[in-house]
Amino acid sequence: MACTDADYAYLRDLVLSQSANRIDASRKTLFDTKLTPVARLAGASSVKGLVDVLRSDRSAHLRKVVAQAMMINETSFFRDVKPFDLLRAEILPRLVASRREQRKLRIWSAASSTGQEAYSVAMLLATDMPEVLDWDIKIIGTDISQQVVDYARGGRYRRLEVNRGLPASMLLKYMTREGEEWQVSAKLRNLCDFRCANLCDTLSALPTFDLVLLRNVLLYFSQEDRGLVFRSVYRQMARDGYLLLGNAEQAEESTDRFRVEFMKNSYFYRPVNND
Ligand SMILES: C[S@@+](CC[C@H](N)C(=O)[O-])C[C@H]1O[C@@H](n2cnc3c(N)ncnc32)[C@H](O)[C@@H]1O
Repeated sequence: MACTDADYAYLRDLVLSQSANRIDASRKTLFDTKLTPVARLAGASSVKGLVDVLRSDRSAHLRKVVAQAMMINETSFFRDVKPFDLLRAEILPRLVASRREQRKLRIWSAASSTGQEAYSVAMLLATDMPEVLDWDIKIIGTDISQQVVDYARGGRYRRLEVNRGLPASMLLKYMTREGEEWQVSAKLRNLCDFRCANLCDTLSALPTFDLVLLRNVLLYFSQEDRGLVFRSVYRQMARDGYLLLGNAEQAEESTDRFRVEFMKNSYFYRPVNND
């Protein structure tokens, strides 16, 4: 049996309450495609059957699994290029100069998906400022989905993934081929740490960050939820830190905690001192 409009509405509400992601009512096929394997795992014969299970058994675990399965995990190495040019030319050199005494940097790939964003930053550091690799540096990637966190930790990518955005020089320098896959070097994997975390939950277990990449996730949130996330991201940031958003995202309409700046054809944000 197929899902009714009420079933799809139930699933949309579930995803919203678990993750703050809004899914358009027209996207019924997306639910069918992404939730058919979850239905099987839950012992249901269809997505409609899965909704019945969810309605009768309010298992927190199954609700999480359903929400995680509905996430859009699209990502790539050096995605959109320009923000990485900005990092290379301005932001990382400025941060390194201002942290010379502490010799410590904390970078956050918030909503890191399968890890390409975090590894791209690691490659920039290793290529352009190798002298800082013996500092206390961590690039922490967090995502709501356990599956993509596990994938990121493994640091193994398929040919299709390394062909998207990764310059050949970086591929050869920082990855080794293992059969049909490419493995990120231990040196870069040691710089990165991937954890499961929901941006809507308290983030206080995370450290204070000097640089935050919060890209291509808030576009799925309501303005109100974006405001809440900006507030908790602000709390996790050094006051002289830097925040990068995705191309289609901006902070101005949902928060007064950050001021926008523009350089190298890219916007970036700085925390405002209004505690
Ligand atoms: C489109 S990917 C973006 C990945 C990467 N930042 C980039 O720009 O290429 C969005 C990621 O956000 C994650 N996500 C969505 N809602 C989240 C939430 N509430 N908390 C943490 N991660 C979330 C998804 O699981 C997905 O992996």
